[in-house]
Amino acid sequence: MKRLAHLFENNRHWANAVKARDPAFFETLARQQSPEYLWIGCSDSRVPANEIVNLLPGELFVHRNVANVVVHSDLNCLSVIQYAVEVLKVKHIIVCGHYRCGGVAAAMEGFGHGLVDNWLGHIRDVEERHHLQIEGIQSPMAQLDRMCELNVIEQVANVCSTTVAGSAWAAGSPLTVHGWIYDVGDGLLRDLGICVSDQEELRNEYAKAVESVARN
Ligand code: CO
Repeated sequence: MKRLAHLFENNRHWANAVKARDPAFFETLARQQSPEYLWIGCSDSRVPANEIVNLLPGELFVHRNVANVVVHSDLNCLSVIQYAVEVLKVKHIIVCGHYRCGGVAAAMEGFGHGLVDNWLGHIRDVEERHHLQIEGIQSPMAQLDRMCELNVIEQVANVCSTTVAGSAWAAGSPLTVHGWIYDVGDGLLRDLGICVSDQEELRNEYAKAVESVARN
């Protein structure tokens, strides 16, 4: 148990099952990956990126962190975006949050969680920006869910204002940034109505998404 043998056992079963379906799968994949999508999602174990959109290894480039935050000084996330856009030539970046996100909930509670509170400061900024909308919602659970949506919308805007997205658009490369949210309660994705394909679209798409509510 200490060496987690059961996970290696699971891995052998999985690799065999994949090979049974497609004998050349790993050989082909080892030569190159050519995903069309970059997924920026939450680290939450209930939101496994490839699985919920039913994509195979090689089809989705993934970056996950607590509460799917895109910060302009985060070299980790920025490097993933740069590699995905400039080298892999992904055409779509999907920022996907999820309802009942523990990171967003912790940010809304304020301080007292230790180091992670510094990271969650980015989400407290989102709350501050939209405090009138949030305060207008009655139930705390609905407030949290709306904050999860608004956080995605803000992170889409952050992706769009990276140098990487700006350079891609300036060069005429096709790149669309999407804002989605996943419901761990029913396994379904929802589009938050923000879909940006060039710098000029951002302002309108952002305003529209902030005004609308994806889930009734
Ligand atoms: Co989360």
